[in-house]
Amino acid sequence: MPGIERVGVVGAGLMGSGIAEVHAKAGLDVTVTEVSQPALDAGRARIEKSLQRGVKHNKISEADASAALARLTFTTDLESFADRDLVVEAILEQEQAKLDVFARLDKIVTSEHAIFASNTSSIPIMKLGMATQRPAQVVGIHFFNPVPVLPLVELVPSLLTGEETIARADAHATGTLHKTVIRSQDRAGFIVNSLLVPYLLSAIRMIESGFASAEDIDRGMELGTAHPMGPLRLSDLIGLDTVKAIADSMYTEFKEPLYSSPPLLLRMVDAGLLGKKSGRGFYSY
Ligand code: CAA
Repeated sequence: MPGIERVGVVGAGLMGSGIAEVHAKAGLDVTVTEVSQPALDAGRARIEKSLQRGVKHNKISEADASAALARLTFTTDLESFADRDLVVEAILEQEQAKLDVFARLDKIVTSEHAIFASNTSSIPIMKLGMATQRPAQVVGIHFFNPVPVLPLVELVPSLLTGEETIARADAHATGTLHKTVIRSQDRAGFIVNSLLVPYLLSAIRMIESGFASAEDIDRGMELGTAHPMGPLRLSDLIGLDTVKAIADSMYTEFKEPLYSSPPLLLRMVDAGLLGKKSGRGFYSY
């Protein structure tokens, strides 16, 4: 199987920066792109901060953190992805924007063995594959936030993903990144979000109806079921715009009321109260 040494990450937000970090720590040459210089600078700062946090927690030495940073190249020019063996798309959860990225990558990336992966939580991999001339090389590789900490990856082949692509993506996630892989069919939400998102939406409906306070809902799940964080703090961590986007995709796919966003979530997203990344969601940061 052709090896994966040169990796491109499209998007340096919460997920893209974590994905770039774990690839650089695994010794790979990583190029990260963003649509604007400020977004790129913010992504770089996020990676530097996370590497320093890893050093503080004795997860990585100062020297290895510096070496990982040196393996990262930051650019706003997607054209520089021509020589990449693997590209992981981690832009915002918007179908048309992702389709555009895949169509552009198809023209830019020259290696005939290159794998195009998406970190989408909910947009069909099949659609992303069909935006390219090489759907057999398009696959979902879905990471979890914080990427450097959480050990899971969902591997999502589409109907047309080739066996070799699946095997290479699996070997990469397990052998190189040391993640645990679970496989899901190409259905909005895959395994984890199909269970997680209705739970998060239920917690938001609880607040909306005056059933309990955010603190008590979260404390209930943390102390009563040993979750590391309750559903409202977790929604803030994921980003309320992202929770809404995933719920929308699942609702579009299944038309189930349990996937429909409660009005409170819609209003908070309209207000820019997106959670930890914007400084305020159900909590202030
Ligand atoms: N690099 C490496 N390791 C790090 C690190 C970093 N930057 N930051 C923290 N760590 C390690 C710490 O060393 C610690 O490891 P040990 O347990 O071995 O000591 C561990 O991570 C926890 O770190 P902290 O003690 O600093 O933090 P915490 O205990 O408060 O946990 C948390 C923070 C990891 C976020 C935890 O609360 C948690 O796991 N929350 C749930 C997160 C979750 O469910 N995420 C999934 C969201 S869904 C998603 O992402 C997919 C989607 O499509 C929406």
